[in-house]
Amino acid sequence: MIDIRDLTVKYKSERNDFLALDNFNLLIKDGDICAVIGPSGCGKSTLLHVLSGIIKDYAGSVLIDGKDIDPRVQRIGLVMQSNGLLPWRDIYFNSTIGARVKDGNNKLDKQYANYILNKLGIGEMTSRFPNQLSGGQRQRAEIARAFILKPNILLMDEPFSALDALTREEMQDLFLKIWIENSVSTIFITHSIEEALYVGKKIVIMSKSPGKVVGIYDNPLFGKKDLRLDEEYYKFSIKLRKIAKEEWSK
Ligand SMILES: Nc1ncnc2c1ncn2[C@@H]1O[C@H](COP(=O)(O)OP(=O)(O)O)[C@@H](O)[C@H]1O
Ligand SMILES: [Mg+2]
Repeated sequence: MIDIRDLTVKYKSERNDFLALDNFNLLIKDGDICAVIGPSGCGKSTLLHVLSGIIKDYAGSVLIDGKDIDPRVQRIGLVMQSNGLLPWRDIYFNSTIGARVKDGNNKLDKQYANYILNKLGIGEMTSRFPNQLSGGQRQRAEIARAFILKPNILLMDEPFSALDALTREEMQDLFLKIWIENSVSTIFITHSIEEALYVGKKIVIMSKSPGKVVGIYDNPLFGKKDLRLDEEYYKFSIKLRKIAKEEWSK
């Protein structure tokens, strides 16, 4: 469980402080996937930086399974927009590095690693280097790395936003397929309402900067077959779009 209470983050500088998150509250149950939508600059990445232990200076409380955040204790899978791979290492090295750093080289569950790589369709490309892959394939390698770590929490920071529309849809499907088999508490950041509806069991709408939660919605459409062709999907996206537009234009 991820329990975030009154999380407030200020970026401090000599001249003045900048309030990035203002009393952000969210509770994510084990094995839930929560899509967080918010406008650019509202503090979405800041939230993930706190959860992944990169930002340590914050007010409020953030507990993962009842414990303070400590990347040495928890297994935190982080997938970012792009460029998270080491260019001079092959895909096998890149996608297993998280698990090997955490547990040691000889504890790597190779069978599971191969299973995930195959499932993501890059099992045949593991000796290639990142620059020998397409953008979509590189994102698959990043997702592989996060799952091979067997994380307790998975943090996704607009992971597909740099991809073209069709590749993005393909990646959303692939991600969900693998997530459903390995359901881990997940925060999926996006600025797309359609994407949030597609991947989120819960949908959280953030305010403009400084970011806080302005609405949490259960997604009755989560996991439904052929969702993109479903009329309800469009109805719900329009409803969310209205709520978001009103909130973000305040
Ligand atoms: N290191 C930093 N120092 C000062 N301000 C920052 C820093 N990082 C981010 N910010 C500011 O904090 C706000 C939130 O940033 P961010 O969390 O990256 O937003 P989002 O991911 O929602 O686009 C932005 O206005 C950004 O300019
Ligand atoms: Mg961001």
